[in-house]
Amino acid sequence: MNPIDYLRISLIDRCNFRCQYCMPEGADLDYVLQQNLLTRDELMLLVQEVFIPVGFTRFRLTGGEPLVRPDVVEIVRSIASLPETQDLAMTTNAFLLADLAQELYDAGLRRINISLDSLKPEVFDQITGNRGRSRWQQVWNGIQTAYRVGFNPLKLNVVVIPGVNDDEVLDLAALSLDREWHIRFIEFMPIGNDGLFQDRGWINSETLRQQIQEKWGLTEGQVRGNGPADVFQIPGAKGTLGFISQMSECFCDRCNRMRLSADGWLRPCLLNETGQIDLRTALRSGIPLYELRQQVRELLMLKPDINYKDRNSGTTGRYARTMSQIGG
Ligand code: GTP
Ligand code: 5AD
Ligand code: SF4
Repeated sequence: MNPIDYLRISLIDRCNFRCQYCMPEGADLDYVLQQNLLTRDELMLLVQEVFIPVGFTRFRLTGGEPLVRPDVVEIVRSIASLPETQDLAMTTNAFLLADLAQELYDAGLRRINISLDSLKPEVFDQITGNRGRSRWQQVWNGIQTAYRVGFNPLKLNVVVIPGVNDDEVLDLAALSLDREWHIRFIEFMPIGNDGLFQDRGWINSETLRQQIQEKWGLTEGQVRGNGPADVFQIPGAKGTLGFISQMSECFCDRCNRMRLSADGWLRPCLLNETGQIDLRTALRSGIPLYELRQQVRELLMLKPDINYKDRNSGTTGRYARTMSQIGG
């Protein structure tokens, strides 16, 4: 059994983008009220006094969009400075990254995953729900800045949507040739996203791998990470190619993570809503920390059975929360 030692912490459920697969237009989103967000002090108390003592050592900051949280740099500094922290990473859309990359690096963040679904500004804008001035260039600048500042590994996440960006797979894969960039192709998941791309279906990672293999060949690759990506490499390329295949494969048996939402719910599985604990309410009602540790330990024991193997169990069918609310 895998140790569960990787916690994905959503800092805020709001986002400055509206990616159609994540928080589609028309979705009825109730944002967490400011007073219900975990404060930085509460978050750090939970990390230090609950999560680290029960065995979590690897942390990823997510959103919504983590960079819209005003105290994001301080949170990075606080978690990075803990001696028990073995890994700290972030998943961001990079829109605000050009200005923040150096500060984040100086605060101790070393690796970043960035969503980049298209190299075509108009397609990018369609996917990310932008109207008006294109935001692609600013995201691209954010990626370049992060690379210059020294984030390593630097990963780019591509959710592949049939008929929208699947014609760009080779162009995106080619980004790994000359730069140490790690491109990951993610199978599109039907979660909380019955918007624009509802009826598009998804493309099997194997199909993409074959396409890339035919053009360049592919060997196994390696890159530091805690997630479910299968990693390959174009021979001679500086970076790697990862495939995240949650639709065609079940990687529940190697699951090593839980998720903490911005309003303090601890969630044992992305796709199964069983067993969640409301840590914010518990903390604010003065429940002693040793009891919270006990609750989390009990959830850790149940975790192997809280997964997505039985795709009909424990879920609401229509998910109560979108990807943006859970943090991916
Ligand atoms: P690394 O540590 O760099 O490997 O990061 P990661 O892949 O864990 O993080 P990232 O935020 O980049 O996640 C990319 C995508 O992987 C997510 O958006 C999901 O689509 C998918 N993913 C990550 N964890 C899970 C999981 O537990 N279950 C499922 N079904 N998908 C997941
Ligand atoms: N299917 C697959 N991946 C998704 N993400 C968001 N929504 C979906 C979905 N429906 C990914 C984004 C981002 C990460 C946090 O989650 O690409 O990189
Ligand atoms: Fe925002 Fe990320 Fe969701 Fe896009 S995928 S809407 S950038 S949280």
